[in-house]
Amino acid sequence: MAQHETEALGAYPSVRMRRNRVDAWTRRLVAENRLSVDDLIWPVFIQDAKGAVPVESMPGVERLGPDRLIDALGPAVDLKIPAIALFPFIDPALKTPDGAEAVNPDNLVCQAIRAVKAAYPDLGIVCDAALDPFNSQGHDGILRDGKILNDETIEILCRQSVAQAQAGCDIIAPSDMMDGRVGAIRAALDGAGYQDVRILSYAAKYASAFYGPFREAIGSSAALAGDKKTYQMDPANAREALREVALDLAEGADMVMVKPGMPYLDIVRAVKDTFGVPTFAYQVSGEYAMLKAAVAQGWLDNDRVVMESLLAFKRAGADAILTYMALEAAARIKAG
Ligand code: PBG
Repeated sequence: MAQHETEALGAYPSVRMRRNRVDAWTRRLVAENRLSVDDLIWPVFIQDAKGAVPVESMPGVERLGPDRLIDALGPAVDLKIPAIALFPFIDPALKTPDGAEAVNPDNLVCQAIRAVKAAYPDLGIVCDAALDPFNSQGHDGILRDGKILNDETIEILCRQSVAQAQAGCDIIAPSDMMDGRVGAIRAALDGAGYQDVRILSYAAKYASAFYGPFREAIGSSAALAGDKKTYQMDPANAREALREVALDLAEGADMVMVKPGMPYLDIVRAVKDTFGVPTFAYQVSGEYAMLKAAVAQGWLDNDRVVMESLLAFKRAGADAILTYMALEAAARIKAG
């Protein structure tokens, strides 16, 4: 607000900003943003092996085996969380330089999609289009002679997307940052008869240090050769994010995502204001680890930081938030 507008509204002592904060009910009336269960997408790690394995760097998060997945999703369905995102930890023996397991219609992801859809037909399923869980070097694309190959990678991402759609995936989320992949995936999905499968593009995805715990969770960190700076964005750049979003929208993205979340809320706001399209944000593994580590020390109050951190996304303009805290946040919202 410009200074003259503030003056036009008056000033102390006739104006006292604290009046609207006196009672809980007034605060509720004047609240500008609200977090709803409808805003949440829950990322879930899955594995081939039975049982569940805790992810060390993400206290409270487990990788779930096929025998545990359906039960574990029950509370999310009961709480009416709209969608989950599935992330696989695959047997290292199945990882290859071309990530071919990504297109196997019977791979871990496709099996999980079918099982979840059979148990919970109304729960939305989001799946990445990217090779990192399947690639022996931990990269999102095919690596040859030290370079990530753009167009060759797109081809395999298209097949991965169609395989996932065929299994019942509702939303394909290209998280690879290859140029031109959204348009190619759209055409591949349409060509295979999946016009209604949506694309949630990781449009502004940064080469961030906050993905560390995720890479541990899906088992891609040990192998990761180098970094992802030749395809993910430089954290120094903001205007470039708007170009990325514009291109993905032109290629047919239905929703766009900014990632990471909390350190990039300026980008969320800019994307929402510029395009006015469904704008999602990913509160990534490192953000979760930071908050939970401080909570474990007794330095932060869990319930309050969970809700405040998610509300911040709404204030920045996010329509939905991918968060590992989805379940506890939804339970808290329901409890009022
Ligand atoms: C893979 C992918 C990553 C995340 C989601 N999809 C990691 C990466 O790009 O290295 C990170 C999510 C998180 O940190 O929670 N393309």
